[in-house]
Amino acid sequence: IGNRGMDDLIPVVNKLQDAFSTLGRLCPLDLPQIAVVGSQSSGKSSVLESFVGRDFLPRGGGIVTRRPLILQLLYSNQSEYGEFLHTNRKFMDFNEIRKEIEAEMDRGTEGEKGVSSVPINLKIYSSHVLNLTLVDLPGLTKVAVKGQPTAIEKLIRDMIMEYIVRPNCLILAISPANSDLANSDALQLAREVDPSGTRTIGVITKLDLMDEGTDALDALENRLIPLRRGYVGVVNRSQKAIEERKSIDEARKEEKQFFENHPVYRHLAEKMGTIQLQRVLNQQLERHICASVPHIKSQLAKEVALLEKQVREFDQHDLSNNEKPAARLMQILQRFSYEYWGEINGFTS
Ligand code: GDP
Ligand code: MG
Ligand code: NA
Repeated sequence: IGNRGMDDLIPVVNKLQDAFSTLGRLCPLDLPQIAVVGSQSSGKSSVLESFVGRDFLPRGGGIVTRRPLILQLLYSNQSEYGEFLHTNRKFMDFNEIRKEIEAEMDRGTEGEKGVSSVPINLKIYSSHVLNLTLVDLPGLTKVAVKGQPTAIEKLIRDMIMEYIVRPNCLILAISPANSDLANSDALQLAREVDPSGTRTIGVITKLDLMDEGTDALDALENRLIPLRRGYVGVVNRSQKAIEERKSIDEARKEEKQFFENHPVYRHLAEKMGTIQLQRVLNQQLERHICASVPHIKSQLAKEVALLEKQVREFDQHDLSNNEKPAARLMQILQRFSYEYWGEINGFTS
């Protein structure tokens, strides 16, 4: 999977993200990541879960994802577990991960159904994943649900925008095959921030649910709404399959068969499916990160210079008790920045 040097870059970027999250700050660096965008029920959670090969995301009707979930997938051939930034527990049981996400969503939002742009950070170590950083965002909704703020549609839209507007964010635009691609919320939103389609990757879900006699070949072959990076088609578990507790492993086998046996998609079989999507994302994220290293370096240098100045100013004052924590915070951040600045430098020197 690509060259070793590139593969090591994603963990460094992950550490930087953590450093800023720990300080309760929005990362001022424009770090490369992949944001998952789509309307409610388009299959966002299903795609993320099949990357991990485990059930661990909250499910149900209404707005399930109410805070952004920054999901760092990290390859490990040791044990398989999850770890949140907000607690030191190691989660070996993936059902517990789901419960913790739900609990943390409640803790971070006002009222039962509110939304918040403060992210939840989750790392998953597994031998089934490739190094990837994904952001699961609330689904675009057009129907205000009882108990949710009436402005919820705009709130969610703004939250998604906050992520995808950054030039360094790859957009995984999820559209279900059983509705018109031209009306896809994901593609419409992606086009607003990425009109030339250079950082949007199209995903077509629910290919198994299309009306008989229709197919998505034009979309999958990138003719209908062309994107530089094209489209990958996937077949996730249906609601019935989930209820019957079909394993993701089994579903992946069926997905493979679906493409290999399909009269229209057969010739595309090798380019389709969840595993292929994961591979494409990993390669594109790495390429994207490599291309942005010079930019990251200059941003980080600016940040460090600013902090040095602020720390010097603090040092010159006799700090009151109120100011001490602020100075301490900056020193921590400065140390973090130096550490990773060194690591990032290491990749290009
Ligand atoms: P999200 O709201 O975008 O996160 O969507 P989910 O991943 O929760 O999926 C919504 C519903 O669609 C669930 O009942 C899934 O089982 C179902 N679903 C998602 N993808 C597919 C697919 O490719 N085929 C079928 N048949 N059902 C799917
Ligand atoms: Mg979801
Ligand atoms: Na932790």
